[in-house]
Amino acid sequence: MDYHVQATDHPEQQEAINALLRTYNRERNPVFYGLRDLPEHLPKPLNLVAYDSANSIIGGLLAETQFEWLKIQILVVAEQVRRRGVGRRLMTMAEDEAKRRGCKRSFVDTMGFQSPDFYPRLQYELAGKLENWDSHGHAKYFYTKLLA
Ligand SMILES: CC(C)(COP(=O)(O)OP(=O)(O)OC[C@H]1O[C@@H](n2cnc3c(N)ncnc32)[C@H](O)[C@@H]1OP(=O)(O)O)[C@@H](O)C(=O)NCCC(=O)NCCS
Repeated sequence: MDYHVQATDHPEQQEAINALLRTYNRERNPVFYGLRDLPEHLPKPLNLVAYDSANSIIGGLLAETQFEWLKIQILVVAEQVRRRGVGRRLMTMAEDEAKRRGCKRSFVDTMGFQSPDFYPRLQYELAGKLENWDSHGHAKYFYTKLLA
């Protein structure tokens, strides 16, 4: 076979590469992709915001659910109100809503300089850790929890 490889910045070529993998994936797993492409199985946002009594935002959680997974992207509580249960409440509300949607597992990742010790307090188990993820000495932690 005669072929060559070159660098590319072209979106059309990148789309052609994506299309090759899409075709492969759909051939290998037609049942999953057939279901995943249905509108009711698209990732569904699950976003929560916490306000104080002056109606100022003091924290929130941004996540989505799809099939059996709750995937948490952002969790934050303002510094002045930390350690008063707001973070736990946001997580519990998200998990409860995810269970209502049929989810069985939750996933979140966090950096070593963020809150790797917070999630075990909420019964999350360490699924993996990548050292020096930010190239500045901080590991990335992956946590999961069985919701059922
Ligand atoms: C992590 C964070 C959301 C926790 O929110 P919070 O409102 O302070 O947490 P809570 O008060 O609900 O704490 C729940 C439990 O976790 C513990 N906890 C809270 N923050 C913790 C931390 N950073 N490390 C270890 N344990 C922690 C609390 O002591 C409490 O334990 P207990 O119920 O067994 O006594 C908050 O500290 C924060 O926003 N941090 C900065 C941003 C960040 O790291 N976000 C997560 C990125 S993935």
